[in-house]
Amino acid sequence: MSKFKEKLAEKIPSYRERVTRLAKEYGDVVIDQVKMSQMYGGMRGIKCLTTDISYLDPEEGIRFRGYTIPECLAKLPKKAGAEMPYVEGHFYLLLTGDIPTESDIKDVVDDFAKRSKVPKYVFDMLRAMHKDTHPMTMFNAAVLALQKESEFVPKYNAGMSKMDYWDPFFEDSMNLLAKLPEIAAFIYRYKYKGDTAIDPDPSLDFGANFAHMMGIKSPYDEISRLYFLLHSDHESGNVSAHTTHLVASALSDPYYALSAGLDGLAGPLHGLANQEVLRWIQGVMDKMGNELPTMEDLKKFVWDTLKSGQVIPGYGHAVLRKTDPRYTAQREFALKHLPDDKIFKLVSMLYEVVPPILVEQGKAKNPWPNVDAHSGVIQWHYGVTEYDFYTVMFGVGRAIGVLSNIIWDRAVGQALERPKSLTIDMLEKIAGIK
Ligand SMILES: CC(C)(COP(=O)(O)OP(=O)(O)OC[C@H]1O[C@@H](n2cnc3c(N)ncnc32)[C@H](O)[C@@H]1OP(=O)(O)O)[C@@H](O)C(=O)NCCC(=O)NCCS
Repeated sequence: MSKFKEKLAEKIPSYRERVTRLAKEYGDVVIDQVKMSQMYGGMRGIKCLTTDISYLDPEEGIRFRGYTIPECLAKLPKKAGAEMPYVEGHFYLLLTGDIPTESDIKDVVDDFAKRSKVPKYVFDMLRAMHKDTHPMTMFNAAVLALQKESEFVPKYNAGMSKMDYWDPFFEDSMNLLAKLPEIAAFIYRYKYKGDTAIDPDPSLDFGANFAHMMGIKSPYDEISRLYFLLHSDHESGNVSAHTTHLVASALSDPYYALSAGLDGLAGPLHGLANQEVLRWIQGVMDKMGNELPTMEDLKKFVWDTLKSGQVIPGYGHAVLRKTDPRYTAQREFALKHLPDDKIFKLVSMLYEVVPPILVEQGKAKNPWPNVDAHSGVIQWHYGVTEYDFYTVMFGVGRAIGVLSNIIWDRAVGQALERPKSLTIDMLEKIAGIK
């Protein structure tokens, strides 16, 4: 057993004990009430899920295992000379709750390297797909195709104790995560760079290897590390996390569960929003003859978008009520590395223009930018102008968080998810409508 897995195994008994105690001894304690508006409002705010991996404070933003984004960036170890922490170290933190040492990280880096070979049949399948297929469909299909590699399935079929489910879930998740950077980069080079895949370099860490296989020079390795870290987890109620958790609760293995979660990430109100932002920004630039607009022109463009019944992509959030710290982290990177980039300047102008307009319009509960308002700009700067691809990179990052969650779901014995539904007749009766 690797030191990493041993560390996880050590942590499980005390969590299990606490969960069993809460569910058995305090099973009747009421946590929340459900309102009619919430039943028809996407279940916003209902406290009915649990996770220890991350917590989203509406005012402060995400905390990973209690650490804010600036704290993670400062505390997680970095490769000598690197600006951003190892993705592997962040995964270690999410899974174990501890900030790793350099040697802990080396353990994970080496483990991923051993598991990273992508079987040929995955590439054959991707090549057989229609050239116009969205890269997200290709990515999700590749994850699903790998399902035959699941170690959970044969172990489950052979009969195993419920107490041990977490172990093959961990193995499947590690095997899957180790392959995602190559699958994603392959899709990029296959689809947009004339099928010129670049072989992985097993001596590189997760973020640097991805940058190498994309064929983009430093500091793209830094942005890859930052990007995967920032997109990893956002509590468990968002569509990709919740879907992964729900599907895994049926004891569908991590391949099925992640593929389903990624299908949710592909929606325009979720992960796909980062491609929408770039598309929308390009619309502004096209309209302005590829020049920066004036503040007045930009205000008009924002109002025109709203008046045509569309949302301003990259603004608003279901839970957050301030500027997303994931936006801020990317803005700080951009201020340092690409302060004169035209699109970055436009994004900065939008940061001034959009919030007051959304406030004036009076609909959005949060007028501030979310992570997607910035992600594409940096990618564009480093030459990744194929914005269809952005959600795939979001997916690589998101996999780190949602897979950590389902390993822990099995570790603490989370049940099959099965909420109750009611009919309109029943609700009218409850509401007292005659
Ligand atoms: C993220 C998002 C889906 C959250 O949805 P939500 O929880 O329903 O948000 P709210 O409760 O604030 O929505 C209330 C109203 O404000 C509108 N609104 C929210 N964000 C808006 C935005 N960026 N632009 C215009 N209108 C917006 C909603 O469409 C809704 O209108 P409706 O009452 O006519 O249906 C929403 O803010 C949005 O569509 N943003 C743009 C897409 C995006 O950036 N997604 C990525 C999220 S990480």
